[in-house]
Amino acid sequence: MLIAFELSGEHNTIPKSEVLSCLRLLNADFCVCHSLDGCLIIDIKAGTRGIIETISKRAAMTHHIIKVLGMGGPGEQEILDMVEKNMPDFNGTYNVRVKRVRDYSKINTELMEGDIGRIFHENGKRANLKNPQVQFRVVLTEDKSIFGCLLSSIDRSKFESRKPHKKPFFYPGVLMPRVARALVNISMPQEYLLDPFCGTGGILVEGGLIGIKVIGGDMQRKILLGAKMNLEHYDVDYSLMYEDACRLALRNESVDAVVTDPPYGRSAAIKAESLEYMLAISMKEIYRVLKKNKRAVFVSERPIEGLAQDAGFKVIEKHLQRVHKSLTRRILVLKKPD
Ligand SMILES: C[S@@+](CC[C@H](N)C(=O)[O-])C[C@H]1O[C@@H](n2cnc3c(N)ncnc32)[C@H](O)[C@@H]1O
Repeated sequence: MLIAFELSGEHNTIPKSEVLSCLRLLNADFCVCHSLDGCLIIDIKAGTRGIIETISKRAAMTHHIIKVLGMGGPGEQEILDMVEKNMPDFNGTYNVRVKRVRDYSKINTELMEGDIGRIFHENGKRANLKNPQVQFRVVLTEDKSIFGCLLSSIDRSKFESRKPHKKPFFYPGVLMPRVARALVNISMPQEYLLDPFCGTGGILVEGGLIGIKVIGGDMQRKILLGAKMNLEHYDVDYSLMYEDACRLALRNESVDAVVTDPPYGRSAAIKAESLEYMLAISMKEIYRVLKKNKRAVFVSERPIEGLAQDAGFKVIEKHLQRVHKSLTRRILVLKKPD
């Protein structure tokens, strides 16, 4: 079955990586058919319903998931012909939405919705704009139009409600919940997720809310107390430790995912003889406690590929996230080899 993920435009590479990581974690038998700007189309062989349900609950950077009924060119007549040719057989009322990704199309989406509505009408279908039983979508991106039936929409408002200043304990300079959740998904956690620089627990909350047992460490007692308040507020399964990320009190190969956002250069919160020392030694510790063949997602302001490789990691992805003029986060996805 062809499935399209309508990706958020907030980042160029993270939304796609999040979806692919979720699919791999769920052992989906799939292949990527088209990787378009704002729309990832995959062919899933079996178990689609359960997979879509799980991804809908977990993903932070997808808007909608649709079952692809047809694909065509970008021109108005091409779209109408494509929809007519692929008109599905269904009962009940419907509505149709046309969505343009960035500026790829000049088509007036509202007029196009009306034109497509006329095709449905000629085929004996009844529209209900507010409360339809079946929803159809047309996505216009790059040189393609994709027509499909809505399977699921992701409720992204829940991430807004967990913004750092809305949590019981707030401290500035933390990752936004959507980014934290996407990184958790990219780390492909199965049972235990570790954040050795956990701060207020933003990453841990997002891991805990998808049912993962989360372990955090930090070197500031006040911040750890704040993390405890936040984790209890969201009722997640957690353990917190007052400990140095350069000397973790965990056995070798005891966790199956790590996501961490250590302090940056300017931060006064560096509890180590130097930032260089802290990044190099904590990287080695993360490598030691991570199981083989598992992932660590490491956020930093400076290039740390060399440190990761020295520790034994393979760098499998790199995402750059511009926060403001003087801060671009470098997000490395690392894998401990077998
Ligand atoms: C950028 S903040 C982490 C923010 C976190 N993602 C959050 O949601 O709040 C970095 C954290 O690393 C902690 N830290 C600094 N040096 C440390 C060390 N050697 N070991 C463990 N934690 C350390 C700081 O106290 C700070 O809370």
